[in-house]
Amino acid sequence: MRSLFGRVARRYNLTNDVMSLGLHRRWKRYLLELAGLERGLRVLDLAAGTGDLALGATGTASATPMASVVAADFTPEMMRVGRKRPGAASIHWISGDALDLPFPDASFDRVLIGYGLRNFADLSAGLGEILRCLRPGGRLLSLDFGKPGSPVLRRLYYRYLEASTTAVGWLLHRDVEAYLYIPESLRRYPAQRELIGLMQGTGFVRCGFLELLFGTMAINFGERPTLASAS
Ligand SMILES: C[S@@+](CC[C@H](N)C(=O)[O-])C[C@H]1O[C@@H](n2cnc3c(N)ncnc32)[C@H](O)[C@@H]1O
Repeated sequence: MRSLFGRVARRYNLTNDVMSLGLHRRWKRYLLELAGLERGLRVLDLAAGTGDLALGATGTASATPMASVVAADFTPEMMRVGRKRPGAASIHWISGDALDLPFPDASFDRVLIGYGLRNFADLSAGLGEILRCLRPGGRLLSLDFGKPGSPVLRRLYYRYLEASTTAVGWLLHRDVEAYLYIPESLRRYPAQRELIGLMQGTGFVRCGFLELLFGTMAINFGERPTLASAS
C-alpha cells in the first residue's frame, strides 16, 4: 500500500477529481457536516493522504479554526503533497500506521477517514486502534466506496470500476495497474452493511451508514460508548 500510494501521490488529487467528476469533494463536505465540528474539538484525519478532510476540518473556508486537527498517514509522499496545500500549515502532520497509532488513549473527539478503512491490512485491528484513540462519546466517520444492494448494479459497478481505473491509471500515471487496487480492495472490504457488525463487534455504539450515489459510496459512523451508554 505504502509504495503504491508513493507512486501515485503527485497526481493523486487530480486523479480523484477525474475519477469522481469532482463529486468526492461534495461527499467529503457532507462527511464534515455530519461530523458536527466546532471550536475546540480534537480531530484526527486518519489515512489522511494529501489531507482533504483535515483541511476541511480546520475550517479554512470560513477562516475560523474550529478544531485542532491532526493528519496521520504512513505514506510520506502523500503527506508531502498535502503539506504544500494552502491552509496546510495549521494542521499537525504525523507519520503513523493506523494499526498502531502513536497517540494516547482518548486523544480525539472525532476520527475522520476518507477512503482509508478499505485499505487497512487488518481492518479489525484498525477499528480497535480508532476506538482506543477516541474519547468516550467521540465519533468515527468514514467515507468509502460502497457495494450497491442490487446484485445487478453491483456487477455493473465492478465492471465500470475495472474499466475506469485501468483507463485513469494509464492516462494519468502511465501505469494500468496503479488504480486497479480499488476494485480489488472493494471485493475484500465488508462495505457499508457488514462494516456495522464489525464496528459493533469492536465496541462501537450508535453505528449506522448513509448511502451516496445508489450505494456506490457510503459514509459509515459510530461512537465510542460513554459509561452511561455502555451500562
Ligand atoms: C485512497 S488514499 C485516501 C487519502 C485521503 N484520505 C482522501 O480521502 O483523499 C488512502 C490513504 O490511506 C493511507 N493508508 C493506508 N493504510 C494505512 C495505514 N495502515 N496507516 C496509515 N495510513 C494508511 C495511504 O497511505 C493513503 O494515503
